[in-house]
Amino acid sequence: MQAPVLTPDAASIARAAAILKDGGLVAMPTETVYGLAADAANADAVARLYAAKGRPAFNPLIAHCASPDAAFSQGKFSDLARKLAGAFWPGPLTFVVDAVDATTVCALARAGLDTLALRVPAHPAARALLEAFGGPLVAPSANPSGRISPTRAEHVASDLGDRIDLILDGGPCTEGIESTVIDARGPSPVLLRQGSVLPEDIEKVWPGLYSGGDGDKPTSPGQLLRHYAPKAKLRLNAGRPEPGEAFLGFGPVEATLNLSPSGDLVEAAANLFAMMRTLDRSHTRIAVAPIPPEGLGAAINDRLARAARQD
Ligand code: TXA
Ligand code: MG
Repeated sequence: MQAPVLTPDAASIARAAAILKDGGLVAMPTETVYGLAADAANADAVARLYAAKGRPAFNPLIAHCASPDAAFSQGKFSDLARKLAGAFWPGPLTFVVDAVDATTVCALARAGLDTLALRVPAHPAARALLEAFGGPLVAPSANPSGRISPTRAEHVASDLGDRIDLILDGGPCTEGIESTVIDARGPSPVLLRQGSVLPEDIEKVWPGLYSGGDGDKPTSPGQLLRHYAPKAKLRLNAGRPEPGEAFLGFGPVEATLNLSPSGDLVEAAANLFAMMRTLDRSHTRIAVAPIPPEGLGAAINDRLARAARQD
């Protein structure tokens, strides 16, 4: 079924917020690109979002908030980061900060990391939806993995319309490129992704923007983005555990914890990081049942392989 395309007004915003509360997926306009929104606190919804985009791996997502104060309650912002937020929010600047312990953004949305990307968008429809929803929404660009980012509702409709629940049509995006992402954890900001806020604009508020390397190229997120790595040793594709091993199961097997007893890959993705963390606390060795490679299984296996390599 093709998702309805609605002009943002009080009724369509309320309908979109209700869909999101139910774990559904809504494409929303932002000033940068259209985002595919899901409830950041709902791991099942986030797993369905990765599945809809066909992402081959779980990249951490940006949590969008209705106000700077809402963002400050999710992540630890230094005085300098607050100054920068004061200058650019609402707007196309995303901050990577340490998550607070009480963050409501689920582990899957953070790809298991202790850090969190936060942005307060300026687009009135995005802000209205965030207000009506009343919590953070993750929203990667609303395109299938590997396709270009959508800047009009019709792009979303043709690329993802049959996989999502609703599209809010806020007209063409004014910026047209993604938000600038900075790592704001240190004494000076580090540019992780170039975007619609220019480095020289950031420099005016917070001098010393470090971009790494020759100063032209942004430091690739791949280099700076530490993947969540368990301390325990992982053994993959295990039929059964050996003595002393915890068993992370999948499907109808007896296990210490089971990613999905019914063999549902969306449920497994939703449980992955939280269960790895739990077993990592109680065991030094973890055997993991085979995960079928189709659909979200590819992303789950990618993450398990990284965790097993421990690099
Ligand atoms: O303009 C935008 O930012 C759009 C609109 C919809 O808001 N969203 C967007 O999201 O581009 P996405 O998921 O396509 O990009 C998220 C970026 C990626 O480069 C990712 O690596 C980075 O943010 N990111 C997210 N969490 C991170 C973290 N904890 N540490 C480092 N980088 C992070
Ligand atoms: Mg993207």
